[in-house]
Amino acid sequence: MSQPKAISHFDLAPSTPGKLKPDRLSAYIHRLRFQAPLFKLTIGSALFLGLVVFLVVSCSPSAPPPPSPRRILGDSRGGSYWERRVRSSARARAHAGHVVLVTGASGFVGTHVCLHLKRRGDGVVGLDNFNDYYDVELKRARQTLLGRAGVFVVEGDINDRELMEKLFDMVAFTHVMHLAAQAGVRYAMKNPASYVHSNIAGFVNLFEVCKSANPQPAVVWASSSSVYGLNSKVPFSEKDRTDQPASLYAATKKAGEEIAHTYNHIYGLSITGLRFFTVYGPWGRPDMAYYFFTQHILQRKQIEIFEGPQHSSVSRDFTYIDDVVEGCLAALDTAKKSTGSGGTKKGSAQFRVYNLGNTSPVPVTKLVSILEKLLKVKAKKKLLPMPRNGDVKFTHANISLAQRELGYKPTTDLETGLKKFVKWYLDYHSDLRKYSS
Ligand SMILES: *[C@@H]1O[C@H](CO)[C@@H](O)[C@H](O)[C@H]1NC(C)=O
Repeated sequence: MSQPKAISHFDLAPSTPGKLKPDRLSAYIHRLRFQAPLFKLTIGSALFLGLVVFLVVSCSPSAPPPPSPRRILGDSRGGSYWERRVRSSARARAHAGHVVLVTGASGFVGTHVCLHLKRRGDGVVGLDNFNDYYDVELKRARQTLLGRAGVFVVEGDINDRELMEKLFDMVAFTHVMHLAAQAGVRYAMKNPASYVHSNIAGFVNLFEVCKSANPQPAVVWASSSSVYGLNSKVPFSEKDRTDQPASLYAATKKAGEEIAHTYNHIYGLSITGLRFFTVYGPWGRPDMAYYFFTQHILQRKQIEIFEGPQHSSVSRDFTYIDDVVEGCLAALDTAKKSTGSGGTKKGSAQFRVYNLGNTSPVPVTKLVSILEKLLKVKAKKKLLPMPRNGDVKFTHANISLAQRELGYKPTTDLETGLKKFVKWYLDYHSDLRKYSS
């Protein structure tokens, strides 16, 4: 985890790195030219040679490589080159294709959604702040993947009003796919402010910009199955109570649903919330159990498996990424237009909430045995009672509403999905260089 720090430091480099060196060098040559008795010149030449050697050595492989020009230009926000990249990324190839701003574009779901949208001909602009909640190198690798597919990821935060307004000034987004968020249930006890920053403040800022945009985009965003909290009626239906969150993460997602309703009600924004159920797959998040179990099993490290009261199993409705992406695209395609303009509502607008799950909860012990089989390694398991810090005992989605209105139909079972994840995991971790930009 020290690598990410180095990378983010790297991004703070001035847009003209190394500028000082040539300047000093030319000043030195200038001085040489005007006060050049022979012996001074000789000493000067020796010093000059020394400087050249120093420059060569400092550029040797052991030193961090200077950022490539392409990267500097791509990252410097607001320049004409940056604007060209945003505009070109936003251009839809398909006739009447959407023009979508995807926040959290270098995140797990964000990357997959961007790739699918771009592939079918929609215009896509990504946005991501590349924070170091988990391995930034993985986010950079996803960004490389997106770049190769023609998706430009703007580096910035959804809290940055000026940046958001600039993007909407430049591009008439028809849709916003809002996936940027502070994820994780247990991390909320360590860093509660981060949840407020992204899931509340950033969320409100995004809606402020969307309601003022002309035209207003339709917004589809990622809520979470965690809003069901302590609800014990299964399977979870959209109409079930969601007023007993068990973690700050869940509470901020629930707050998001309420905030979304007010923006729909006051400003006529078309808004769809998607409650994701434990999404997994290639390019997944390292903070999720299936990912770090894989890592730890391969490293022969002990894994901790939580169990419920009386040694009952903890289950999750694991949902494969491609199925979730189908649901996201269907939500975008069926979203009606927002009705407001210039911050004023013209009529009532669409407001929807859907479960995107898999309808078949699997005990975490079963997850582990599938991984053992795929990795051909026996896991060192330690069973622990589940701590009361946010996790719920089970999740199980009723997806009949999404099925009816979005045509959502998950087709990937856990074994098939994990096989694809493990294949990706082994490939990615065996050769990270493939994705260095
Ligand atoms: C699933 O949700 C629908 C409403 O969308 C409801 O009519 C149905 O009864 C629910 N099914 C179960 C098994 O709870």
